[in-house]
Amino acid sequence: MPKLTIDGKEVEVADGLNLILAAEQAGIEIPHYCYHPGLSIPGNCRMCLVDVEKAPKLQIACNTRAADGMVVHTKSAKAQAAQKAVLEFLLINHPIDCPVCDQAGECKLQDYYMDYDRQGSRFPLEKKVHKGKAIDIGAGVMLDQERCILCARCTRFFDEVTHTHELAIFERGDHNRIEINPGQPVNNKYAGNVVDICPVGALTEKDFRFRMRVWYLHRKPSVCGGCERGCSIDIHHHRGRIYRFKPRYNPDVNSYWMCDEGRHGFPALQQETRLTVPLVQQKNELVAETWGEAFRRSAGVIQNMRSEFGANAIGAVLDARSTNEEAFAMKKLIKETIGSDSIATLTWSPPGASGDDDLLIRANKNPNSRGLAALGLPASGLESIASAVGAGKLKMLIVLRADLVRVMGEQEFVRKFGPLDYMLVLSTDANETCQMANQVWPIAAYPELEGSFTNFNGRVQRLYEAFPPPGQSLSAIEAIARLGHALDGVERAMSGDTVFTQMAAAEPSFKGLSFEGLGEHGRDLEG
Ligand code: SF4
Ligand code: SF4
Ligand code: FES
Repeated sequence: MPKLTIDGKEVEVADGLNLILAAEQAGIEIPHYCYHPGLSIPGNCRMCLVDVEKAPKLQIACNTRAADGMVVHTKSAKAQAAQKAVLEFLLINHPIDCPVCDQAGECKLQDYYMDYDRQGSRFPLEKKVHKGKAIDIGAGVMLDQERCILCARCTRFFDEVTHTHELAIFERGDHNRIEINPGQPVNNKYAGNVVDICPVGALTEKDFRFRMRVWYLHRKPSVCGGCERGCSIDIHHHRGRIYRFKPRYNPDVNSYWMCDEGRHGFPALQQETRLTVPLVQQKNELVAETWGEAFRRSAGVIQNMRSEFGANAIGAVLDARSTNEEAFAMKKLIKETIGSDSIATLTWSPPGASGDDDLLIRANKNPNSRGLAALGLPASGLESIASAVGAGKLKMLIVLRADLVRVMGEQEFVRKFGPLDYMLVLSTDANETCQMANQVWPIAAYPELEGSFTNFNGRVQRLYEAFPPPGQSLSAIEAIARLGHALDGVERAMSGDTVFTQMAAAEPSFKGLSFEGLGEHGRDLEG
């Protein structure tokens, strides 16, 4: 554990740390462009030059390891002169694009200019070298060659992480430019990451360009619901709309990256089909009713069914996109409040979905199948529910997030579940299953609730409410709790953290975990 002094502050750091990271620990910023902790260190931008006592010249902080007794100055006259010189050099041919550049607000060239340079240009505007602008290089990525500072983060990402090598640096001197290999556009499932790591506005996302200024966006940590990997993400949102997903560093799940499928998965969460009011089937039409009527109606049906046919006449099917808390609350409702054993889960991935790869993507597109299994809910069981329906034993089905008609096809659904007397569907969207339901309850999508997912490796990670769900939608745990209350008059926990605490106390797999304790990177299930 070397002890060194940076700008007069003594700091003890882990062995092998470079000076950028060591300074970060001491709360000191060393500006840098080409260095990225998830990639190799080329040392090409020279933005990180620092003054190390006894060294004959300035050293690049990205490729200098912290050593015992080292004395480093990041703000000495020599270091500051180097920072200004590097910025002046990088800006010589940079276009005056800031007012129309999508990176404005999160651009390291803008930020460092303000923090470390602030000089006027000595270079005549008309002499700037012009290069290609707004070039579609494939996979939803746009390239502006004039804005590029040639840090080579993008080429290294495609060389070292995806091993697809689509980008390279062509030409020499001030004609240097980033380019795809002729006729070979970017074509890999992780291309969006180069937009994240490009420190300037040279690489931007086609779908996000000109849609929102970044300073209007709020961030909420979350988990991608696109597959069972459960990559840590930040949701960037504004006034109840999601504008983008960005990967969030998690050494135990996804490192610095996410896949494009997950990145572009958010439009599905905010479609026109979102439900906003509780609905009831009347004369072959779904019409709105109040939540009070909705709970009383469902509770009445459950009570009648139970007294006439027994508790097992009522069952539930949960989709593996349900959160841990929702699954736990539904399990308690079915097993303890109603007294039925009929509960099944649905794990389904759309046909043609991408299979497992050796980076992040998983073939199982359900973010919480492991969580449901950890709660003892069977991965199958739909067939036994269907045969109980066919045998006339199961009369009422509560469906949580599962679009059974889409998964089974209408004919098969009608053949297996047609004999049901009553179906209550809790769904975010008006789907085909809702059309077949007697009652439909609008519930929050995962960016709109407090909860957790458990990934395929048993990592439990937190979901935060980025903004409220639309209209009168409730979190599914609140809807389940209020249905339970309508059945037996007992108040139940309605918040994610209280339900999590109950789950950790009752379920052996979740033993020892706490909602707060999940932290930024999550915790592993017990065993
Ligand atoms: S496009 Fe961006 S990431 Fe790639 S070299 Fe240029 S500045 Fe760096
Ligand atoms: S690998 Fe899975 S969890 Fe990660 S970003 Fe892609 S879809 Fe989302
Ligand atoms: S960050 Fe050190 S040389 Fe670029």
